[in-house]
Amino acid sequence: EKGGYDHFMLKEIHEQPKAITDTYRGRLLRSEAIIKMAGVEDNMKKFLNANRFIIVACGTSWHAGLVAEYIFEDIARIPVEVEYASEFRYRNPVITENDVVIAISQSGETADTLAAIKLAKSKGAFVFGVCNVVGSSIARETDAGAYTHAGPEIGVASTKAFTTQITVLTLMALRLARAKGTISSSDFRHHLLELEMIPKKVEKALEEDEHIKKIADIYKNSRNCLYLGRGYNFPVALEGALKLKEISYIHAEGYPAAEMKHGPIALIDENMPIVVIATKKGHYEKVVSNIQEIKSRKGKIIGIVTEGDEQVRALADHVIEVPETIESLTPLITTIPLQLLSYHIAVLLGKNVDQPRNLAKSVTVE
Ligand code: M6R
Repeated sequence: EKGGYDHFMLKEIHEQPKAITDTYRGRLLRSEAIIKMAGVEDNMKKFLNANRFIIVACGTSWHAGLVAEYIFEDIARIPVEVEYASEFRYRNPVITENDVVIAISQSGETADTLAAIKLAKSKGAFVFGVCNVVGSSIARETDAGAYTHAGPEIGVASTKAFTTQITVLTLMALRLARAKGTISSSDFRHHLLELEMIPKKVEKALEEDEHIKKIADIYKNSRNCLYLGRGYNFPVALEGALKLKEISYIHAEGYPAAEMKHGPIALIDENMPIVVIATKKGHYEKVVSNIQEIKSRKGKIIGIVTEGDEQVRALADHVIEVPETIESLTPLITTIPLQLLSYHIAVLLGKNVDQPRNLAKSVTVE
């Protein structure tokens, strides 16, 4: 049942090329240069007339929502707020009939997310669900939606659900950008082409597995770990830190790289590993100067870099290469080495990777 892998988590990490392909199959029609998503087409007016999108989710799904915020604002020019469902539901939030609420949930059973949906509906908002489990409570409770088609995710640590959620939300952003005219037809085609190439690039990123295992072995006894990224890769840093703490029980924090100097830099010494997402697209030079700041405080740097990178390689203690893509799609690739790093550290420490302590796959209580 684990398909020859030692753990469901590793199997699911390796399933991502297929899962992402399954997610865009029938929706991304490159030869016709269109995106077809029934749940979006049928409600196009609601989406186009919305004052803003409010994304509600928890955990990893909330991180996917943060990535979506960048792409919806960047290419579709729609204002987006991303909310922890648990905070949103108890805050007496301002919601109107002109808001579109997007609920993201792998299981479709998360209690706080479900309650946030009910609240939004009672205020007259249109609620769209992005779920993996077909027929789940959230899928049923929402007005419309799009499934991720990732297949069953058994490991408690969410992996393929995250990348397929980002894929669905990217397709939505592209479709809406086209409808609004905020993206040119050549740029749109370019995005479709690049998105179609993602599964192959994820496969390539997975080939770094052995190299990542060696890095895991060096840092497995660390007490703390920092994850840094900027722009589209800031949410990826948060997700990398969550993956590590959840299965290895090592304390980890994700930060926007530029926030370091506002406090966390005080933590850095020769015992602190810092994973920095430093791919070529998106604020590369700025990230390089953040790396220099860390280096001068003797932190140990693990750089996630674009293939062929030289500048970060010269500064970092280790680099993990990933294939190049357009900036908005980098989270789909940079996430892969972070998943593998957490996985190997947890396995080397002898932890129960698929069922970490204190956690359940779906959180059906608030
Ligand atoms: O099923 P959901 O996507 O609604 O679950 C939300 C979180 O409970 C979930 O993502 C959790 O954070 C994962 N264990 C993270 O790996």
